[in-house]
Amino acid sequence: MKSDEIRSKFIKFFEGYNHKLVKSASLKTDDPSVLLTVAGMQQFKDYYVGLKNAEKDFKSKDVITIQPCFRTSDIDEVGDEYHLTFFEMLGNFSFGGYFKDNAIRMAYELVRNEFGIDKDRIFVSIFEGANGILRDEESEEVWKKLGLKSIKGGGGFWGPGFGMNLIKPGSLKDNFWGPTGDTGVCGPSTEIYVDGMELWNIVFNEYHKDVNGKLHLLSQKGVDTGMGFERLVRIVQGKKTVFETDLFKPLMDKIRELKVSDSENIKAERVIADHVRGVVFLIKDGVRPSNIAEGYILRRVLRRAIRYCRLLLLKDNFLEELINVVINQYSKYYSFNKKEILNVVNEEYEKFKLSLDKGLKEFNKRIFTGKISGEEAFLLYQSYGFPIEITKDLAREKELEVDEDGFYKEFEKHQEMSRKGAGMFKSGLKNHDEKTVRLHTASHLLLAALNIVLGGVEQKGSNITPERLRFDFNFDRRLTKEELEEVERIVNKKINEGLEVKVEEMRYKEAVKRGFKGVFEGKYPETVSCYSIGGFSKEICSGPHVSNTKELGHFKIIKEESSSGGVRRIKAVLVDLDDLKLSKKTLRNIEKAKAEIEAGKFHTLSQLEKELGL
Ligand code: SER
Repeated sequence: MKSDEIRSKFIKFFEGYNHKLVKSASLKTDDPSVLLTVAGMQQFKDYYVGLKNAEKDFKSKDVITIQPCFRTSDIDEVGDEYHLTFFEMLGNFSFGGYFKDNAIRMAYELVRNEFGIDKDRIFVSIFEGANGILRDEESEEVWKKLGLKSIKGGGGFWGPGFGMNLIKPGSLKDNFWGPTGDTGVCGPSTEIYVDGMELWNIVFNEYHKDVNGKLHLLSQKGVDTGMGFERLVRIVQGKKTVFETDLFKPLMDKIRELKVSDSENIKAERVIADHVRGVVFLIKDGVRPSNIAEGYILRRVLRRAIRYCRLLLLKDNFLEELINVVINQYSKYYSFNKKEILNVVNEEYEKFKLSLDKGLKEFNKRIFTGKISGEEAFLLYQSYGFPIEITKDLAREKELEVDEDGFYKEFEKHQEMSRKGAGMFKSGLKNHDEKTVRLHTASHLLLAALNIVLGGVEQKGSNITPERLRFDFNFDRRLTKEELEEVERIVNKKINEGLEVKVEEMRYKEAVKRGFKGVFEGKYPETVSCYSIGGFSKEICSGPHVSNTKELGHFKIIKEESSSGGVRRIKAVLVDLDDLKLSKKTLRNIEKAKAEIEAGKFHTLSQLEKELGL
């Protein structure tokens, strides 16, 4: 069966059960809890907690998607039979429609009857219970009725040929999914394994986790499932690895065709294939290489692919040829701006290739005694722009180890920005980005100030990046210069007053009574988090926020425009006052040094201080 057919079979099967096919979300996401789209459920978060209504928006409580996802969590495993960073996830979702019984039965029917996967190759896991949450007996019963046998207790060997037809109890770590980030919906999951490989994760969203880590039962139960498309195709097509399926074959063939060196390096070929696909989709969705957040994820995989391509001595123009294969293969389902993708990739390639060569020379000159220290790994990062993955690859090739923790420690020590950086590298949570958090608190002050100046203002939308906030609100004309200045003045006054930001959990009804404002009138879960800023602003919000307004710096509106009929949009930034005190010359020097570091030039700290005139 071709992958195209597998794709449409999935859609038809669930359409047969009245699911609506919904367009996939962009990999670049507004979701503040993660840097990229890592799961199909992300675009549906508001439907699980009742803030949005699926029947109204999709004409059904039950939907499906085929969602491109990007996860760095498995990056070290890429190269084996089935781990990938970029993949498509087939998912069915229900927002208050069906629950455990139907979800499990449909999944089993699809796997067994439509894809013909033999019963003896399947085993499943269920949540065994932990932290006061009970074992998922309901799912266990459904599986038993379907003919799978239960084994009690954890442990023991389970795998292909041994654990056939078994229900294996799984832990909090493996069988309780979510939330993405610190707060949100989550719940027990049951997973379907085929030949020992996890194929399908079926999550039952029964809980909402609050800022204090407490779980609250949701009044409306939800289903969130995700099946790795590449993994499914591997099984249905009977291939040893995902790289031999028709999803990867054209790309793998092209890599071998472009290869000049005879050396066998299967891992390198597979990493190139995985990363190039990821690069194409990330750029298509608007991510650009940089040293922070999702931009740095793109830079890491792109640079690693470039290094492997050069290791295999791929013929000139290799990036373009590989990108063409990916675009040709997927343009049936997604639209790509080829020129733009090539431009971004080529620019990064030009930036990196010289420092790559220099860095490799430096690496080969050095004598390591069994281990590459954190300092050495950091030097390769700082001086030559090597992401830690490249250093780890180089180390593996020389049978050395890398002190990865040491690398992150160095990172924290050396770069101010990286206090949140180490966390960002590993799990990439946007929540930890101080700039975003500061802008988020500023948007609360902005709403309160708008209400003082204009009156009757409600939030109609908000989007925050580390650089700026964007705030939409109801108002039917352009704001005057005087009004904008007054709003700015009030916000800055409140910042300077050093007001304390307090958070409290309370029942929604009480929150309304106490004057907390919510964006989604009447549609909140029973218990909500409420943020108050020194009595000046009171909002229902999931946070996070700074603890005192004096952390914000200087508030500046940079744009006021129309967003849609009757809705205005303000863009604003927070300026660090210390920055403003620097002379123009120093600022110019900083820009110059930043560009050079970006391009891979090495600056020692004292050199930098001298150059910057500090
Ligand atoms: N959200 C769950 C996952 O990503 C199921 O879709 O695995």
